Amino acid sequence: MPIGRVRALKLLRQTFRHHSAVQQLHVFGRFLSAPFLRTLDAIPPGSRVLDVGAGHGICARLFVEERAREVVAVEPDLRKTLMAWRHPAVRFVAGFDDCIRGAFDVVTIYDVLYRLDAAARDALLPRLYARVRPGGLLVMKEIDPTSRIKEAWNRVQEFLSDKLFGLSMGNVFYNETPDVIAQRLARAGFVDFTARRVDFGYPHAHILYTARRPAS
Ligand SMILES: C[S@@+](CC[C@H](N)C(=O)[O-])C[C@H]1O[C@@H](n2cnc3c(N)ncnc32)[C@H](O)[C@@H]1O
Repeated sequence: MPIGRVRALKLLRQTFRHHSAVQQLHVFGRFLSAPFLRTLDAIPPGSRVLDVGAGHGICARLFVEERAREVVAVEPDLRKTLMAWRHPAVRFVAGFDDCIRGAFDVVTIYDVLYRLDAAARDALLPRLYARVRPGGLLVMKEIDPTSRIKEAWNRVQEFLSDKLFGLSMGNVFYNETPDVIAQRLARAGFVDFTARRVDFGYPHAHILYTARRPAS
């Protein structure tokens, strides 16, 4: 049976038990404010996953519990990676995505793109393409700005989060429409674009994108 909220919360509590109270607050707030569990079915069971911009590793923890056989979690912010929790099938790497080599069944990237300017977005996506094995998958979670009320709330929350916790890198934040994202991914070489809103019951318009690297 897929993991439910209660079991996921217990798992995260156990995983982050040695973190500071502020970091635990951030992790639980993050988990409760984003539908991580609704995205797990996008990861093919048994995959080897690269999670880019892993943050504290919430995705990595859930992926390896439910779907992935192995996760490499890359994150440049040492406040998050130095205290990383340990798991035999998860490897944390302190650095930016470009320090990773090799090809993965799935590359995941949750709520990272919106923090980058346009040039950095266009530079990052071909790098992610290079990390996906031929026929493999990119899974990306972002916020859909076409939902105006939810987007306004998102901007307030992002501002407060930066002020209170200062936990994310990047000077800009803006979300792009699914059409623009589709074009960016196509320019990077990806095919079979899908977009699925996963935000029912959440104040933010969470959206999950998938795209594939052609098999040949
Ligand atoms: C808003 S956090 C999201 C963290 C995590 N994915 C989650 O969903 O909880 C975005 C993270 O992306 C990281 N990041 C930004 N650019 C990156 C890059 N080029 N390579 C790897 N991580 C990056 C930042 O340090 C930050 O921790």
